[in-house]
Amino acid sequence: MGPIVRVGPREIAVNTSEGVKTIQKVQRGFAKSEWYDKTGPGLIGMRDREKHSHRRRLLAHPLSNTALQDFEPLVQAMVDLAMEKIRHESRRLGHADVYKWFGLMATDIIGDLTFGSSFRMLEQGRGNQYTDDLQSTLHQVHMRIVLYPLLDILAYLPLKQAREVGEKFKRIGGYGKESMKRLKHAQATGALLLLYSSEALRLYGTASGSHHCSVPAGGWQIEDYYLPPSTVVTSQAYSLHRRPETFEEPFSFKPERWLDPTAEMQMAFIPFGERPRICIGINLAYVELRLTTAAFFRAFKGAVVDPALADDDMHLENYTLISPKGRKCLVQV
Ligand code: HEM
Repeated sequence: MGPIVRVGPREIAVNTSEGVKTIQKVQRGFAKSEWYDKTGPGLIGMRDREKHSHRRRLLAHPLSNTALQDFEPLVQAMVDLAMEKIRHESRRLGHADVYKWFGLMATDIIGDLTFGSSFRMLEQGRGNQYTDDLQSTLHQVHMRIVLYPLLDILAYLPLKQAREVGEKFKRIGGYGKESMKRLKHAQATGALLLLYSSEALRLYGTASGSHHCSVPAGGWQIEDYYLPPSTVVTSQAYSLHRRPETFEEPFSFKPERWLDPTAEMQMAFIPFGERPRICIGINLAYVELRLTTAAFFRAFKGAVVDPALADDDMHLENYTLISPKGRKCLVQV
């Protein structure tokens, strides 16, 4: 099978770095497709260029490198608290679930940054209504995308489950509005770590699944194929990051490959998407990755996977966002 595959009557999956760059750089006319309407009310799904750039400008300042310098001590405090919780749980149960603790930590951090106060979930050791809604809707967002428009029709039926899903989506919209309101008011490791972070992002970037765009007026000639206007073209980091032509032994975790990356590797590395719709949280993500990795390996030298964790638990599920199938990652520290 080649790198350009027809996956539906009007849908083509593209897996060459040049092709993906062309699609993701919206200046070249490839707009986000209707698929994004189903992802909910957030910035990611905003297709209207003007609305998007207005919202993006508003969020850009608190997530800029300069603003994050002031925020770093707070991130460090949360990272330290997560390490304490991991140590405590491991003493109590014989293992700690780092998937749970890192999830609570990341949500507390973003809560502090956007709402101005932490959700204190790390302290309590469990999620709250906000995270429960987010986690269950992540799966439902995917189901909504796959089953659209069936799920939207279901929402109108007098079914308890359908009503609950609708209410969760409404609450998520409310959280977004609340954080935007507060933001409007507020408006106002080194090289080694980077190698490991890059390799982890290559194989396990959070948003590795397909992103859908549509071919602009005039159509698109890609290699031997002409795609007419409005054809849906999808690209995904998951496949691009595993091309054997670009990455030697693509399925192996080899941080040293980033010591001297080829131009082709750099071009194909898109864990955060592409400008102008590149991840707005990229700086925060790198701060969190750097501080957490350093703190974990400093605190827990010799940490090992708990034997109770089956290989199947860590099987990668790729529903636009990725997660381990077992929704847990147990380690002995
Ligand atoms: C390792 C962590 C992360 C990865 C791998 C990641 C990946 C991505 C990717 C691939 C996109 C582009 C999606 C698309 O084109 O449809 C994106 C967009 C986005 N990300 Fe992230 N992200 C991460 C962390 C974060 C964090 C911490 C935040 C919170 C501040 C965040 C907020 C966003 C937003 C709001 C967008 C939409 C940007 C826009 O459309 O203008 N991400 N992310």
